Amino acid sequence: MNIYEAIKADHDEHRRLLNDLAETSGDSLKRRTLWTKFYYDVKAHAAAEEESLYAELIPTVDGQPEARHSVHEHQQLERIWI
Ligand SMILES: [Fe+2]
Ligand SMILES: [Fe+2]
Repeated sequence: MNIYEAIKADHDEHRRLLNDLAETSGDSLKRRTLWTKFYYDVKAHAAAEEESLYAELIPTVDGQPEARHSVHEHQQLERIWI
């Protein structure tokens, strides 16, 4: 599996967790469990993405705008979760 396949696999898993979360309601154990898994999986994914892929893209002319935008999106997610 290369880095792009790994990133896509993570994104697919995050979508699956969000779909499962959308089928829950109220304050249930299932909802808390899904949310906790989603939260820590996305945090780990974002950190790895920034340290590997984005770190390589930011010094490049073509990659910098998208990489900076993506880092900004990660920061927005962190503010939502606090
Ligand atoms: Fe990602
Ligand atoms: Fe990202």
